[in-house]
Amino acid sequence: MKVDLYERFWLWVSGALIVAFLGAIGVAAALRSVHPPSHVETVDPTRVRTDTEFAEPRVVTRDDGSVLVIAVAELYQFRPGTIRVPAGVPVTFRITSPDVIHGFQIVNTNVNTMVAPGYVSQLTVTFARAGEYLVLCNEYCGLSHHLMQSRVVVEESP
Ligand code: CUA
Repeated sequence: MKVDLYERFWLWVSGALIVAFLGAIGVAAALRSVHPPSHVETVDPTRVRTDTEFAEPRVVTRDDGSVLVIAVAELYQFRPGTIRVPAGVPVTFRITSPDVIHGFQIVNTNVNTMVAPGYVSQLTVTFARAGEYLVLCNEYCGLSHHLMQSRVVVEESP
């Protein structure tokens, strides 16, 4: 069967595009640490406000120096409002929502997760540099979605 020259040309072009896109995903995963979240853990969303873990959002320093951040994303705020963590140590975020789907994105980092009611979103990141980072909700959650933001303040390690 004879395939028209132009048809063959565009077959090769589209094949090359697929290879390029898959390559971009591979490079992002291998070199830029861009990975989909893989943690699946459920929690009763109606009990988040009284739950032993999530009732009091907070920052905990573990014995080994790593940091645990228990956070809640809700209409229309993040708690804790300002999260203070040290630079250069692993920081594990555990976040859930008592109401609707929110986003938790720390701008200029690779921290970016959906926060769904009924689930605990967990991810670990090490901030290389001290500084102040903007946290945004990037899932439309209601009329004041655009106001939903907070800060992560990364401080120099002692
Ligand atoms: Cu919360 Cu948008």
